[in-house]
Amino acid sequence: SHLRPPTSQMEEVSILRGSNCRAKGAAPGFKVAVLGASGGIGQPLSLLMKMNPLVSVLHLYDVVNTPGVTADISHMNTGAVVRGFLGQPQLENGLTGMDLVIIPAGIPRKPGMTRDDLFNINAGIVRTLCEGIAKCCPNAIVNVISNPVNSTVPIAAEVFKKAGTYDPKRLLGVTTLDVVRANTFVGEVLGLDPRDVNVPVVGGHAGVTILPLLSQVNPPCSFTPEEISYLTSRIQNGGTEVVEAKAGAGSATLSMAYAAAKFADACLRGLHGDAGIVECSYVDSQVTELPFFASKVRLGRSGIEEILPLGPLNEFERAGLEKAKKELSESIQKGVSFINK
Ligand code: NAD
Ligand code: LMR
Repeated sequence: SHLRPPTSQMEEVSILRGSNCRAKGAAPGFKVAVLGASGGIGQPLSLLMKMNPLVSVLHLYDVVNTPGVTADISHMNTGAVVRGFLGQPQLENGLTGMDLVIIPAGIPRKPGMTRDDLFNINAGIVRTLCEGIAKCCPNAIVNVISNPVNSTVPIAAEVFKKAGTYDPKRLLGVTTLDVVRANTFVGEVLGLDPRDVNVPVVGGHAGVTILPLLSQVNPPCSFTPEEISYLTSRIQNGGTEVVEAKAGAGSATLSMAYAAAKFADACLRGLHGDAGIVECSYVDSQVTELPFFASKVRLGRSGIEEILPLGPLNEFERAGLEKAKKELSESIQKGVSFINK
């Protein structure tokens, strides 16, 4: 029911040994599935999840190339057992029993496109995958990466509502790359190690909906109006910067895999019971009047345990918030109508 490496010899050896040919030492841990595992994000993300000591089982699902990706990653001598699943008929086996499902499936942008231009294809992909999740692992934490995130998260919520499995605490849109970029660019301006910088980025994950709160940077600091204008624009257009540099060959994959692995690790540490895990994420929210909004959330054993308030915004950020809400509201509505049309 799933892909395995050519094993006849391995099985023979294992019968003689009376073992199951599995290396010992794999700590008990969480079961994680990557849907879209053969893609530009999926491959390095799967590699990073195979390196995560909290992962005991790693399922790699895609509609192409999972036999090769699985064989390759399965040779890494880390704890997680890797299994591959190819094509729709194997989706359900790939999802059964999962604690965390990460979704980077879908087409990426080319120069000149907005993330919303991906809606027509990616909305259907996310719907199908979420129908599988509702059926096979309704209690899993779901991390949605596929764009447009501002609409695909509402799509996932509507699919789960229809199936009667919706738990807003377990559905999270991945906006970590915006924070990763913001920390890098602010670190460059301030001359600080980017690992020591923390910039809250709220709103959503497209253009003006990406709202860095530069007044709340940690460590506390101040910027000139020119720096604020440069940083806000660079953070909001970080995705487009990569799309243009790749010149038709796709969008951010490597920095995204890093960001997704960082976010998934935070979700797993929360599930594990670690305290004080706070990340920005696009979630079902009451922080504004919109049904979904990205802000800091505290992660724990049940997924999102608390949505933190936005904190004090300056005048520039309040104006940005109004612009962000206008676009977000339309993107949310578009996602909701896609399922309920
Ligand atoms: P890619 O084309 O390299 O890979 C996508 C993978 O999805 C492919 O392997 C493809 O076979 C697979 N796929 C397609 N249909 C599928 C289905 N029905 N089920 C399972 N897998 C399926 O693209 P990429 O560069 O990896 O980007 C993937 C998505 O992530 C895009 O929508 C992109 O816009 C988005 N993205 C989001 C962020 C973010 O910050 N949230 C950042 C970067 C990219
Ligand atoms: C990003 O921010 O890099 C992603 O959303 C991909 C894109 O299309 O920009």
